[in-house]
Amino acid sequence: MAKTEATQETNLLKDIIAHAKEYGFVYPSSEIYDGLQAVYDYGPYGTELKNNLKRLWWESMTRLHENIVGVDAAIFMHPTTWKASGHVDSFNDPMVDNKDSKKRYRADVLIEDKAAQYEQAGDLAKAKALLEEMGKLLDAEDLKTLRELMIREEITCPLSGTANWTEIRQFNLMFSTQVGSVADDSSTIYLRPETAQGIFVNFLNVQKTARMKVPFGIAQIGKAFRNEIVARQFIFRMREFEQMEMQYFVRPGTELEYYKEWADKRMKWHRALGIPSEKLRRHDHDKLAHYANAALDIEYEFPFGNKEVEGIHSRTDFDLMAHQKYSKKKQQYFDPEVNQNYVPYVIETSIGADRLFLMMLCNAYTEEELGGKKRVYLKFPPALAPVKAAILPLVKKDGLPDKAREIVANLKYDFNIIYEEAASIGKRYTRQDLIGTPYCIAVDHQTIEDDTVTIRHRDTTEQERVPITELHGRLSEACSFKRVFEAMG
Ligand code: GAP
Repeated sequence: MAKTEATQETNLLKDIIAHAKEYGFVYPSSEIYDGLQAVYDYGPYGTELKNNLKRLWWESMTRLHENIVGVDAAIFMHPTTWKASGHVDSFNDPMVDNKDSKKRYRADVLIEDKAAQYEQAGDLAKAKALLEEMGKLLDAEDLKTLRELMIREEITCPLSGTANWTEIRQFNLMFSTQVGSVADDSSTIYLRPETAQGIFVNFLNVQKTARMKVPFGIAQIGKAFRNEIVARQFIFRMREFEQMEMQYFVRPGTELEYYKEWADKRMKWHRALGIPSEKLRRHDHDKLAHYANAALDIEYEFPFGNKEVEGIHSRTDFDLMAHQKYSKKKQQYFDPEVNQNYVPYVIETSIGADRLFLMMLCNAYTEEELGGKKRVYLKFPPALAPVKAAILPLVKKDGLPDKAREIVANLKYDFNIIYEEAASIGKRYTRQDLIGTPYCIAVDHQTIEDDTVTIRHRDTTEQERVPITELHGRLSEACSFKRVFEAMG
């Protein structure tokens, strides 16, 4: 990316962050105390949008698949869970401090940034070699040589400009706390760093109580916590975030077939949300985690580059085997079709609700010229828009507010509707554009005479006259999830 292009992209992210705050989508957490790094709160419209996204994911998993059911496991889990999953021993990032600026960094991110500089300068071979060397050193946990690599590459702190680095240390990303009111009783437990383990430990409970037969899936939406060393890019990398994960249990030997099926399905899902194909990328992993036999990321072209939104992993029987070993309880399924007991293999789809939110916001944010003026609006698909329609009486008199209130009363049980009578109609349209309301319904003097209203369409600003009796049907058609589901194929 050329420098001016990169600057424009950074400015775009700044505009999106400012818009999100100004119009009630996302606020810094506890802002009156100057915020808390990498923690955010969702405002009125952000909450609606996020809830819509979570509901869409949930329904597309559980309603569209007869063999997927949901759970809602606790955030706190028995500490041995995290020993078994490998998080206690190896959920680490390499951390380094600059002695002059006292700023803390992830060593791998600094080296990746350097490789990106080589790439931007056109030296792809140098970038690749650097990343490969880093990968080998990280695998070997050779942090001393990793530091030497940083020095050799003249990697400096962006704040102090020096290469006065401390030793690199492994930093575990799990947050811990104590349970129990008496000091003696207390023991360390963790805030879950992923929701997946709440599914694995309930695998047999769900299989038995919901009488599931392999292949079947368990879906879950819930909070996860990671003490990220470097928190950057707004809600892209947070310390408290939400995951939407689905573990699909299959017969060993069939996993790659299901992996392919889920990879294709999830790509279609993102496209059905209105994300253009050219902004989505499938990134197959060359280097696999020790427990995986295939893995890929679905990436979106954010203003700060192509980045992961969702991960799809073929996790073999790693997790269930580990829980079997640590709990000493069999995690087997009896498959009547092959008359055999086995520990199932697992395909995982894992997406962050906040990252999905950011992708939708970036994709929706539109600036254009209209009549010589800049117009900004959020082009959400109607099914996901926080507010479906605004009902706007043209003036605050002549019975128009009463008529408008009647329309609200008729629609509010099925749609999130706003009623607004203050300010000029033009200003009210602009306000709805800024929060992404797809339809503005104006009630005027003609409405009193013939029970018709005008609908103004957000994306085209075109207006049409329709009978009030048609409003419910039109909104149902335009805003239903069914349309999105059908686009998933
Ligand atoms: N169970 C597998 C797992 O947790 P992951 O790649 O670490 O895999 C899955 O995370 C997804 O969770 C990511 O694709 C991303 O959308 C989201 N995610 C991970 N860390 C996050 C963070 N710090 N802030 C926001 N979202 C995050």
